[in-house]
Amino acid sequence: MKRTVIIDALKSTDFNSQINVKGWVRTRRGNKNVAFIALNDGSTIKNIQIVADLDKFSEESLKPITTGACLSVTGRLVESMGKGQTVEIQAEEIEIYGTADPETYPLQKKGHTLEYLRDIAHLRPRTNTFGAVFRIRHNMAMAIHTYFHEHGYFYFHTPLITASDCEGAGQMFQVTTKNLYNLKKDENGKIDYSDDFFGKQTSLTVSGQLEGELAAMALGKIYTFGPTFRAENSNTPRHLAEFWMIEPEVAFIQADELMDLEEDFLKYCVNWALEHCIDDLQFLNDMFDKTLIERLRSVVNTEFVRLPYTKGIEILEEAVRSGKQFEFPVYWGCDLASEHERYLVEEHFRKPVIMTDYPKEIKAFYMKLNADGKTVQGTDVLFPAIGEIIGGSVREENYDKLVAEIERRNIPMKDMWWYLDTRRFGAAPHAGFGLGFERLMLFVTGMQNIRDVIPFPRTPKTAEF
Ligand code: 4AD
Ligand code: MG
Repeated sequence: MKRTVIIDALKSTDFNSQINVKGWVRTRRGNKNVAFIALNDGSTIKNIQIVADLDKFSEESLKPITTGACLSVTGRLVESMGKGQTVEIQAEEIEIYGTADPETYPLQKKGHTLEYLRDIAHLRPRTNTFGAVFRIRHNMAMAIHTYFHEHGYFYFHTPLITASDCEGAGQMFQVTTKNLYNLKKDENGKIDYSDDFFGKQTSLTVSGQLEGELAAMALGKIYTFGPTFRAENSNTPRHLAEFWMIEPEVAFIQADELMDLEEDFLKYCVNWALEHCIDDLQFLNDMFDKTLIERLRSVVNTEFVRLPYTKGIEILEEAVRSGKQFEFPVYWGCDLASEHERYLVEEHFRKPVIMTDYPKEIKAFYMKLNADGKTVQGTDVLFPAIGEIIGGSVREENYDKLVAEIERRNIPMKDMWWYLDTRRFGAAPHAGFGLGFERLMLFVTGMQNIRDVIPFPRTPKTAEF
């Protein structure tokens, strides 16, 4: 018989019809006369109840039906008397696909800590929490593609292996086929890459932006959505070594239009979650964070604050004068720490903040210089509970200014020739940003640790699964 997915079975009113469902046992309970099996197939957070009468099924045959076992159940769909459910299945035939020995199956029905579940990341998608998180993750990816597609952007694929460091922060993972036990070096002791796979030193990309800019200079509006890699040794709840980034790049826009895009796009994504994932959000709201749904609604309905960095520093200095204690010092020119960002967003404004016009020394080489010669047109979005969720900027499109900045920072110019060609041929004003997909996931799910919003997290000293 053809399988019905549980999300559809639960909505069906085709009572007394024959139905087949397949899924994994969440719980089994019962008495002398009847067994109740809660079955889940991942299509929804909700289980369907299977009722097995003991005059049809021997106790012996039900014994292997324990938490985690996989079943195919055929029976009659009936209206349910039980509280909180509308339908259940009166079982006629149960086939056991796979058992899960209660002595060794690590996911018993009691609540496990998120830390424990991280150690069994191969099984955690079977829990309610991670089922919810990963269904939401899929929906957020759909939201992103839909948003850009409907707004005339083209999905452009940028390479993962690259010879250039977009952010210039030196946090790249090398890619090599060289025998590390027997490295050929030149007379200065430098490694000779001429016989390496690509004939030069290569790494995993930290950002698709540079190639994204090339595409925007031809297709007008593009976005990338792919994995990026950073060997930053920061063991925080907001950093991964492998994370997914969404990077739109748009020709002919200026800072205010870039900020409009950042704000509109984030609100669209959050609203999408509210419209498409409410069962899963409600579960996370009830289990972990009673203000989650309220916070999501408030972001959709609030106008973001637009705040020049210099103003932000003034507010922080004023806070320090009034007795606020920060771990890191605040002064014009400092790179804001997460405690500073969170003070502005959570205590001072109580709304998302788009910070603009940063000192050029704390930002990447490609950002457009302001007339003051000191600040650049960065437009980072700071979110409650997260801090920086988006990093963006208007790009320096002036060839001479860009080259001067590249030289000033000692970035190897010969590796940059193709990027500089965009400024030599048909240069255009343009701007773009990068959204950390897992930072968005943290916000939307209310989870506290970035390791819990990606299926298999990569962080310093962990690459299991
Ligand atoms: O601010 P970042 O470094 O900006 C760029 O990479 C630009 N090239 C983007 C662009 O303009 N096209 O990174 C962008 C975003 C951050 O705001 C943050 O959300 C996320 O990427 N991010 C990380 N997420 C998880 N783990 C990490 N280690 C992250 N580093 C950055
Ligand atoms: Mg940034």
